[in-house]
Amino acid sequence: MIARSDLPTGRPAWVLETNRASMLLCLGADDTLYLPYWGPSGTTRNAADFLLEVPGNRPSEATFLDGQPLAYPAYGMPTFKEQCLVVATDSGARGTRFTFKTDRVADDRLELDFHDALLRLTLTLHFTCHAELIARKVTLRNEGEQVLTLERALSAALPLPPDQYDLVSLHGQWGREFGVVQRPLMPGKVTTGSTRGISSHEAHPWFAIRPRGERAEHAGRVWFGSLAWSGNWLGVFEVERNDALNIALGIQPFDFAWRLEPGATFETPELVCGVSEHGLGGAARQLHAFEEQHWLPENHRARLRPVLYNSWEATHFEVQVEQQVELARRAAAMGVELFVIDDGWFGTRDHDRAGLGDWTLNVRKFPNGLRELIDEVHGLGMQFGIWVEPEMVNPDSDLYRAHPDWAYHAEGRSATFGRNQLVLNFARSDVRQAIHEQLRHLLADHGTIEFVKWDHNRAWTEVGWPESPAQQREVWVRHVLGLYEVLRALRAESPHVLFESCAGGGGRADLGMLRWTDQVWTSDNTDAADRLDIQYGYSRAHAPRVMVNWVTDVPNEQTGRVAPLEFRFHVAMQGVLGIGGNIAEWSSADLSEGAALVAEYKAIRPLVQHGRQFWLRPPTAIGPCGVQYVAHDGSATAVLLYQVRGVRGQGARRMVLHGLRPEARYRRETDGAESTGAVLMNAGLPATLVSTAERHPRLDWRSTLQVWRTV
Ligand code: GLA
Repeated sequence: MIARSDLPTGRPAWVLETNRASMLLCLGADDTLYLPYWGPSGTTRNAADFLLEVPGNRPSEATFLDGQPLAYPAYGMPTFKEQCLVVATDSGARGTRFTFKTDRVADDRLELDFHDALLRLTLTLHFTCHAELIARKVTLRNEGEQVLTLERALSAALPLPPDQYDLVSLHGQWGREFGVVQRPLMPGKVTTGSTRGISSHEAHPWFAIRPRGERAEHAGRVWFGSLAWSGNWLGVFEVERNDALNIALGIQPFDFAWRLEPGATFETPELVCGVSEHGLGGAARQLHAFEEQHWLPENHRARLRPVLYNSWEATHFEVQVEQQVELARRAAAMGVELFVIDDGWFGTRDHDRAGLGDWTLNVRKFPNGLRELIDEVHGLGMQFGIWVEPEMVNPDSDLYRAHPDWAYHAEGRSATFGRNQLVLNFARSDVRQAIHEQLRHLLADHGTIEFVKWDHNRAWTEVGWPESPAQQREVWVRHVLGLYEVLRALRAESPHVLFESCAGGGGRADLGMLRWTDQVWTSDNTDAADRLDIQYGYSRAHAPRVMVNWVTDVPNEQTGRVAPLEFRFHVAMQGVLGIGGNIAEWSSADLSEGAALVAEYKAIRPLVQHGRQFWLRPPTAIGPCGVQYVAHDGSATAVLLYQVRGVRGQGARRMVLHGLRPEARYRRETDGAESTGAVLMNAGLPATLVSTAERHPRLDWRSTLQVWRTV
């Protein structure tokens, strides 16, 4: 809902309203666009009701715009805060000064055009109101005759009024993604972001702002945002001199410069933002609903994600037909619906030193073609999926031998190898075409392939494109746009294929990838205890239906820890369940327990993948944690409780549930126990995972799944 009205100054203002949030935009002196309110909705659609003082006659009232809530500070405006836009001309002139031209209000979209007459550059600010969230981006159109250089073009600024705030952000590294970090914002800037080519394991392009010290999961105001960009990005959180907060996010300006030719338009990625009055949990649920209802690729958006088996940890590079067939048979017997063959099936890929770039079948491993395995998998009633890493190349590959210049390279300098591989220059259309062609054949030539895991396993270095010096600083962005283009084309050609995004685990799990892929491999660390933390952090920003988790073998490949099978399953059930262990070596007891747990998962899958998620208690080193999934109408809930490490003598604990119907009666499926929604939401349920009656209680690695449905 977007309403335009006039301020007492006579200048136009726009109130944007979703089910949860409102945003007020208004024009002040010199056509400066202010964003003086971003907060809970339901207040008013009349801008004048906000009683805001927008500077009306600069400069005598306010010479500089620091500390003012600017919607899009651009270099050239009289402000010293973090700028969203820097434009330069070849003659050396820098900066912009825009005048307001026109607005376009259509349904839930607002576009505001500003024009710089000197540069003949039009800046359009785009706002889209979704059910709960607002998406923002800008476009820049060169209407003149000279080339303009965009040295910086962020997606949006989000100002908040003077107060004391905390920043919550997600950080980590390979195998330890999505750690939740909360820190106070003090005068000065906190910057996050990535310069690695991908959005990164180190910092995820998501943020939340809370009043200082607020930590409640289900209460308190949270302003949050998520940037739909899979490449280098920047987030700046700047406490200004009057304690106002200026937030700015977008494409990383480091090593970025975009030559905007006459007639050309540049579009920034979208920044999706919202306001929660129910803590980080409420913010997360808004993002989950947004992904499910508006954002994920439409053709698979509503489909339940299949239970998958992935053979990577079982067979690594030693892929053989008979052994994959054996794994497939066992997987099918456990109830798996999608069998995925990972790395090692192609080119000369016997190890990680060769083969990337040659997406043709390794005939030594598959003497009768891939179809033999695909037919077998289909015959077992499962779908078939395959792994690729299309943006990478090993020097030991036919592709590299034919086109060494297709990999990023810096003239006269030696290359840094990551996992023995180089990054292909996806900014080049010939590279994209060649890779696209290979993938098209892969999907067409061997029978029906229903799933592709698209991996990316190294950060970019020596990101040189000596053959195209004028575009050298566009490479980081052109690569990402090129990647989206190939994914878009493949999806259009093979709409039945489900795509999974992976970058050494969760290194590229952003909304940008989730526009073109359907789910994400969350982390290469499959240790069940570590996964609790990783999945908790991941679920701050993304829905359970896009979070893939495997049950793998013990001792765990990454940590050596030994968790019981049921515990590993219960952790993996938090999102899209997968199995990634060497099931050829599982005992028959493990296989039948696995089959029973897969069946349990399928029974709760609609709740997990389409319900609302509430963390009851976040993962902690000692003691229980829990997560709950509730049907939208409150008719059923699945509760998963865990305790990695318990301590002796702990008192009985309870977990208070959410989202139920207070007046309804609920019955627990396992034992028929009954209670009311009000009791379960006020007194909670017993969450003591250890029986105090036991003389030698097992305190560690305890977990339960309970399902309650209305009677
Ligand atoms: C990455 C992925 C893994 C696996 C390997 C294969 O590390 O994250 O899941 O696919 O590559 O080489």
